[in-house]
Amino acid sequence: MSGPIVVTGTDTGIGKTVFAAGLADLLSARYWKPIQSGLEGETDSEVVARLGGLSEARIVGEAYRLKTPVSPHQAAAIDGVSIDAAKLTLPDADAGVLVIEGSGGLMVPLDRSTLLIDVFARWRAPLVLCARTSLGTINHSLLSIAALRAREIKLLGIAFIGESNPQSERIICAIADVRRLGRLPHLAPLTGTTLRNAFAEAFNPADFVS
Ligand SMILES: Nc1ncnc2c1ncn2[C@@H]1O[C@H](COP(=O)(O)OP(=O)(O)OP(=O)(O)O)[C@@H](O)[C@H]1O
Ligand SMILES: [Mg+2]
Repeated sequence: MSGPIVVTGTDTGIGKTVFAAGLADLLSARYWKPIQSGLEGETDSEVVARLGGLSEARIVGEAYRLKTPVSPHQAAAIDGVSIDAAKLTLPDADAGVLVIEGSGGLMVPLDRSTLLIDVFARWRAPLVLCARTSLGTINHSLLSIAALRAREIKLLGIAFIGESNPQSERIICAIADVRRLGRLPHLAPLTGTTLRNAFAEAFNPADFVS
Protein backbone atom coordinates (compact mmCIF):
# COMPACT_ATOMS: atom_id res chain seq x y z
CA MET A 1 0.00 0.00 0.00
CA SER A 2 1.37 3.42 -0.86
CA GLY A 3 0.43 6.95 -1.85
CA PRO A 4 -1.39 9.85 -0.25
CA ILE A 5 -4.76 9.73 1.53
CA VAL A 6 -6.39 13.06 2.38
CA VAL A 7 -8.37 13.18 5.63
CA THR A 8 -10.90 15.98 5.67
CA GLY A 9 -14.03 16.72 7.65
CA THR A 10 -17.45 18.28 7.41
CA ASP A 11 -16.30 20.93 9.89
CA THR A 12 -13.50 22.01 12.16
CA GLY A 13 -13.10 20.15 15.45
CA ILE A 14 -14.80 17.05 14.02
CA GLY A 15 -12.06 14.64 15.12
CA LYS A 16 -9.85 14.58 12.01
CA THR A 17 -6.61 14.61 13.97
CA VAL A 18 -7.67 11.73 16.22
CA PHE A 19 -8.90 9.80 13.18
CA ALA A 20 -5.69 10.55 11.25
CA ALA A 21 -3.62 9.28 14.19
CA GLY A 22 -5.56 6.01 14.26
CA LEU A 23 -5.35 5.66 10.48
CA ALA A 24 -1.63 6.39 10.30
CA ASP A 25 -1.07 3.77 13.00
CA LEU A 26 -3.35 1.22 11.29
CA LEU A 27 -1.65 1.67 7.90
CA SER A 28 1.89 2.21 9.27
CA ALA A 29 1.75 5.49 7.39
CA ARG A 30 3.47 8.85 7.61
CA TYR A 31 1.46 11.97 8.47
CA TRP A 32 1.44 15.49 7.04
CA LYS A 33 -0.49 18.58 8.14
CA PRO A 34 0.25 21.06 5.32
CA ILE A 35 -1.17 24.11 7.10
CA GLN A 36 -1.21 24.33 10.89
CA SER A 37 -3.20 27.31 12.21
CA GLY A 38 -2.66 27.68 15.94
CA LEU A 39 0.65 26.97 17.66
CA GLU A 40 -0.38 27.19 21.30
CA GLY A 41 -0.54 23.84 23.06
CA GLU A 42 -0.05 20.66 21.03
CA THR A 43 -0.07 20.97 17.24
CA ASP A 44 -1.96 18.38 15.19
CA SER A 45 1.36 16.75 14.24
CA GLU A 46 2.28 16.42 17.92
CA VAL A 47 -1.12 14.90 18.77
CA VAL A 48 -0.76 12.39 15.93
CA ALA A 49 2.78 11.47 17.02
CA ARG A 50 1.56 10.92 20.58
CA LEU A 51 -1.74 9.10 19.90
CA GLY A 52 -0.61 7.18 16.83
CA GLY A 53 2.81 6.31 18.24
CA LEU A 54 4.53 7.78 15.17
CA SER A 55 8.27 8.37 15.33
CA GLU A 56 9.64 11.77 14.28
CA ALA A 57 10.68 10.29 10.94
CA ARG A 58 7.04 9.51 10.14
CA ILE A 59 5.90 13.11 10.63
CA VAL A 60 6.39 15.35 7.60
CA GLY A 61 6.98 18.99 8.57
CA GLU A 62 4.18 21.49 7.98
CA ALA A 63 4.46 23.75 4.91
CA TYR A 64 2.92 26.63 6.90
CA ARG A 65 2.92 27.11 10.68
CA LEU A 66 0.60 29.99 11.53
CA LYS A 67 0.19 31.34 15.05
CA THR A 68 -3.55 31.92 15.35
CA PRO A 69 -6.23 29.19 15.45
CA VAL A 70 -8.47 30.68 12.74
CA SER A 71 -9.04 30.07 9.02
CA PRO A 72 -5.70 29.77 7.14
CA HIS A 73 -6.31 32.95 5.09
CA GLN A 74 -6.86 34.96 8.27
CA ALA A 75 -4.09 33.27 10.25
CA ALA A 76 -1.69 34.00 7.39
CA ALA A 77 -2.77 37.65 7.26
CA ILE A 78 -2.21 38.03 11.01
CA ASP A 79 1.32 36.63 10.62
CA GLY A 80 1.97 38.83 7.58
CA VAL A 81 2.54 35.91 5.20
CA SER A 82 0.62 34.74 2.17
CA ILE A 83 -0.04 31.11 1.44
CA ASP A 84 1.29 30.12 -1.98
CA ALA A 85 -1.07 27.29 -2.94
CA ALA A 86 1.11 26.37 -5.94
CA LYS A 87 3.89 25.49 -3.52
CA LEU A 88 1.70 23.02 -1.62
CA THR A 89 2.99 19.96 -3.40
CA LEU A 90 2.74 16.35 -2.30
CA PRO A 91 5.84 15.04 -0.53
CA ASP A 92 7.71 12.05 -1.96
CA ALA A 93 5.10 9.46 -2.97
CA ASP A 94 7.49 6.48 -2.87
CA ALA A 95 7.75 6.28 0.89
CA GLY A 96 4.58 4.28 1.66
CA VAL A 97 1.21 5.68 2.69
CA LEU A 98 0.98 9.35 3.61
CA VAL A 99 -2.03 10.49 5.65
CA ILE A 100 -2.64 14.20 4.96
CA GLU A 101 -4.89 16.20 7.27
CA GLY A 102 -6.66 19.26 5.93
CA SER A 103 -7.43 22.38 7.95
CA GLY A 104 -11.07 22.70 9.01
CA GLY A 105 -13.54 21.60 6.31
CA LEU A 106 -13.36 21.70 2.50
CA MET A 107 -14.36 25.27 1.63
CA VAL A 108 -11.65 26.81 3.73
CA PRO A 109 -9.93 29.77 2.08
CA LEU A 110 -6.16 29.92 1.77
CA ASP A 111 -6.49 33.40 0.26
CA ARG A 112 -9.15 35.37 -1.61
CA SER A 113 -9.09 33.10 -4.64
CA THR A 114 -8.10 29.62 -3.42
CA LEU A 115 -10.01 27.10 -1.35
CA LEU A 116 -8.41 24.07 0.28
CA ILE A 117 -10.67 21.80 -1.79
CA ASP A 118 -9.05 23.22 -4.95
CA VAL A 119 -5.66 22.06 -3.68
CA PHE A 120 -7.09 18.60 -2.95
CA ALA A 121 -8.50 18.48 -6.50
CA ARG A 122 -5.09 19.36 -7.95
CA TRP A 123 -3.39 16.60 -5.94
CA ARG A 124 -5.82 13.98 -7.31
CA ALA A 125 -5.38 12.03 -4.08
CA PRO A 126 -8.15 9.79 -2.67
CA LEU A 127 -9.96 11.32 0.26
CA VAL A 128 -11.72 10.23 3.46
CA LEU A 129 -14.52 12.44 4.78
CA CYS A 130 -14.88 12.49 8.58
CA ALA A 131 -18.41 13.27 9.69
CA ARG A 132 -19.93 13.48 13.11
CA THR A 133 -22.95 11.35 13.93
CA SER A 134 -24.87 14.03 15.84
CA LEU A 135 -27.76 16.19 14.60
CA GLY A 136 -26.89 18.29 11.54
CA THR A 137 -24.57 15.73 10.04
CA ILE A 138 -26.83 14.83 7.11
CA ASN A 139 -26.78 18.35 5.69
CA HIS A 140 -23.06 18.90 6.29
CA SER A 141 -22.11 15.51 4.90
CA LEU A 142 -24.21 15.74 1.74
CA LEU A 143 -23.00 19.28 1.01
CA SER A 144 -19.38 18.18 1.44
CA ILE A 145 -19.86 15.19 -0.85
CA ALA A 146 -21.57 17.36 -3.49
CA ALA A 147 -18.56 19.70 -3.45
CA LEU A 148 -16.14 16.76 -3.83
CA ARG A 149 -18.12 15.28 -6.70
CA ALA A 150 -18.29 18.65 -8.49
CA ARG A 151 -14.47 18.57 -8.56
CA GLU A 152 -14.23 14.86 -9.40
CA ILE A 153 -12.28 14.12 -6.21
CA LYS A 154 -12.13 10.42 -5.43
CA LEU A 155 -13.96 9.71 -2.17
CA LEU A 156 -12.87 6.48 -0.45
CA GLY A 157 -15.80 6.78 1.95
CA ILE A 158 -17.14 8.37 5.12
CA ALA A 159 -15.70 7.77 8.58
CA PHE A 160 -18.28 8.61 11.20
CA ILE A 161 -17.18 9.92 14.57
CA GLY A 162 -19.28 9.84 17.72
CA GLU A 163 -22.07 7.82 19.22
CA SER A 164 -23.94 5.34 17.03
CA ASN A 165 -26.65 6.93 14.87
CA PRO A 166 -27.53 4.27 12.30
CA GLN A 167 -30.45 6.22 10.80
CA SER A 168 -28.31 9.22 9.87
CA GLU A 169 -25.33 7.11 8.80
CA ARG A 170 -27.54 4.98 6.52
CA ILE A 171 -29.37 7.86 4.84
CA ILE A 172 -26.15 9.77 4.10
CA CYS A 173 -24.51 6.71 2.53
CA ALA A 174 -27.66 5.82 0.57
CA ILE A 175 -28.36 9.29 -0.85
CA ALA A 176 -24.72 9.99 -1.68
CA ASP A 177 -24.02 6.40 -2.75
CA VAL A 178 -20.83 6.40 -0.72
CA ARG A 179 -19.07 3.72 1.30
CA ARG A 180 -19.36 3.76 5.09
CA LEU A 181 -15.81 3.06 6.24
CA GLY A 182 -16.78 2.66 9.88
CA ARG A 183 -17.44 4.64 13.03
CA LEU A 184 -14.96 5.76 15.66
CA PRO A 185 -16.82 6.12 18.97
CA HIS A 186 -16.09 8.80 21.52
CA LEU A 187 -13.23 7.33 23.57
CA ALA A 188 -12.82 8.03 27.27
CA PRO A 189 -10.02 7.88 28.04
CA LEU A 190 -8.52 8.75 24.67
CA THR A 191 -5.05 7.14 24.60
CA GLY A 192 -2.85 5.49 22.01
CA THR A 193 -4.05 2.10 23.21
CA THR A 194 -7.80 2.84 23.29
CA LEU A 195 -7.51 4.47 19.85
CA ARG A 196 -5.60 1.55 18.36
CA ASN A 197 -8.10 -0.98 19.71
CA ALA A 198 -11.15 1.02 18.61
CA PHE A 199 -9.65 1.57 15.19
CA ALA A 200 -8.84 -2.09 14.63
CA GLU A 201 -12.42 -2.96 15.54
CA ALA A 202 -14.09 -0.24 13.44
CA PHE A 203 -11.99 0.01 10.27
CA ASN A 204 -10.57 -2.35 7.65
CA PRO A 205 -7.17 -1.41 6.16
CA ALA A 206 -8.27 -2.80 2.77
CA ASP A 207 -10.95 -0.08 2.51
CA PHE A 208 -8.25 2.57 2.28
CA VAL A 209 -6.63 1.14 -0.83
CA SER A 210 -7.71 3.12 -3.89
N1 LIG B 1 -13.01 9.58 19.07
C1 LIG B 1 -12.77 10.53 19.98
N2 LIG B 1 -12.85 10.24 21.31
C2 LIG B 1 -12.62 11.18 22.25
N3 LIG B 1 -12.30 12.45 21.97
C3 LIG B 1 -12.18 12.80 20.67
C4 LIG B 1 -12.42 11.87 19.63
N4 LIG B 1 -12.24 12.50 18.45
C5 LIG B 1 -11.92 13.77 18.74
N5 LIG B 1 -11.87 13.96 20.07
C6 LIG B 1 -11.55 15.22 20.76
O1 LIG B 1 -12.29 16.28 20.14
C7 LIG B 1 -11.47 17.42 19.97
C8 LIG B 1 -11.38 17.78 18.49
O2 LIG B 1 -10.78 16.69 17.81
P1 LIG B 1 -9.67 16.90 16.69
O3 LIG B 1 -8.59 17.81 17.16
O4 LIG B 1 -9.25 15.54 16.23
O5 LIG B 1 -10.54 17.67 15.58
P2 LIG B 1 -10.06 18.22 14.16
O6 LIG B 1 -11.16 17.95 13.20
O7 LIG B 1 -8.73 17.67 13.84
O8 LIG B 1 -9.94 19.80 14.40
P3 LIG B 1 -9.15 20.89 13.48
O9 LIG B 1 -10.13 21.34 12.45
O10 LIG B 1 -8.81 21.95 14.49
O11 LIG B 1 -7.93 20.24 12.90
C9 LIG B 1 -10.12 17.10 20.60
O12 LIG B 1 -10.11 17.57 21.92
C10 LIG B 1 -10.07 15.58 20.58
O13 LIG B 1 -9.27 15.03 21.62
MG1 LIG C 1 -6.96 18.63 13.44
